[in-house]
Amino acid sequence: MTGGPFPFPRRATEAMLAWTGARIEHGPDPKHGAQAFDVLEPVLGGSITREGRTPDEVFGLFTDTIVPSTRPFGHPTSLSFVASAPTRAALSFDAALGAAGIFAGNWDGGAGAVHAENQALRWIVDMAGWPDSAGGVFVAGGTLGNLSALHAAREWRAARIARPDRWAILCSTEAHSSIRAVARVMDVDLIVVDAHETGRMSAQAAADRLESRVFAIVANAGATNCGAVDDIAGLADLAETHDLWLHLDGAYGLAALADPVMRPQFDGIERAHSLIVDPHKWLFAPYDSCALIYRDAAHGAAAHGQQAVYLDTVDKNHFNPSDYALHLTRRARGLPLWFSLAVHGTDAYADAIARTRQVAETIAAGITKMQGLDLLLGPQLTVILFRPTAMTEDEMIAWAEGHRRSGALLCLPTRWRGEMVFRLCIVHPETDAEWVLNILKTLTR
Ligand SMILES: Cc1ncc(COP(=O)(O)O)c(C=O)c1O
Repeated sequence: MTGGPFPFPRRATEAMLAWTGARIEHGPDPKHGAQAFDVLEPVLGGSITREGRTPDEVFGLFTDTIVPSTRPFGHPTSLSFVASAPTRAALSFDAALGAAGIFAGNWDGGAGAVHAENQALRWIVDMAGWPDSAGGVFVAGGTLGNLSALHAAREWRAARIARPDRWAILCSTEAHSSIRAVARVMDVDLIVVDAHETGRMSAQAAADRLESRVFAIVANAGATNCGAVDDIAGLADLAETHDLWLHLDGAYGLAALADPVMRPQFDGIERAHSLIVDPHKWLFAPYDSCALIYRDAAHGAAAHGQQAVYLDTVDKNHFNPSDYALHLTRRARGLPLWFSLAVHGTDAYADAIARTRQVAETIAAGITKMQGLDLLLGPQLTVILFRPTAMTEDEMIAWAEGHRRSGALLCLPTRWRGEMVFRLCIVHPETDAEWVLNILKTLTR
């Protein structure tokens, strides 16, 4: 291939691959972070011209301006939001996958990729204790996964009861913001159940708010802000009694299925109808990837899929990922997880997730021993909420910003029961508990 109207020297490709290799080897710089528009515009504004520029010049914009002005989520000191911790295997493979240019929307376009992705889905299905009928697809993120699952849920329920004036989803106060966004897109109401003080929704609290127009219960399998896992077994009973769909939002938390110590928290999962888990969160895969799985894949296929005359030749007898979510074209975004799992083995995954739990336990225990810090919650999975007793909100924000800028620690405040608190969420197996505790000591002075 010559490049036709788009010549590109081999030397430039090699330079980019060399940078890629070094970046994967060394990881992100913890001092990097967002820059203001006024800083970026003079460099990146006008970077697209009629005549074009040399690859070195433009790639230089990427390495010297774009990358340094992004948050280093993959660094072991990045403990806010839900960060990410892709393995070097997954990152290396992702670069190769990009070069392969595979269309993985259907079997015709990406049979081998789709088959391998389904191996990774099968690992999750087996951990959930779901039958052979289970299946699904990797979508871009948890928001799209939740939307696709809840659309399937409503179709399923609509086939069983007369359509109410308004449909509703039942979830807890700790449900992720994406559930509210999904309800808006689907034009359905949300019935929001008060969670217990730990952030957990009980089956009784859900039963007390249940209405006949509800088509799905969404259970947190690891609430983002507090790590709570709802009473999945109790909610499965409730769903069974009322013939409702039970969806588990485990975008963050369901990775913990791999750890035998945390696994019992998800008892009842075997009776849920759908789940999501984001490999780009706690399953050591790069952005972006969400595993959306139906216990009975046929329920996903009944709700999704696109028909068009130009698609009539597509092989309908094989597994077509586009039949299971709201999308058609897709990259094989489950393959970096597959590659990393296949290289390292599932035991290494179980060990790495158990290690993050132990790091969270060590940090929480250290916080309880420090005068001037109150441990409020956790670890729940690997989320910890705590508060410095003698700091104002402004001081907390300034402390967090100082440590973010220096690259020492990304530990940002959140709110818990209306009060500003610090939140840590550990997903990186190389996070060093002693390092974190030494920095937290500066909160007590
Ligand atoms: C529990 C939970 N659900 C859903 C989402 C949405 O996922 P995404 O950002 O991948 O769309 C997130 C986080 O982002 C989450 O933590």
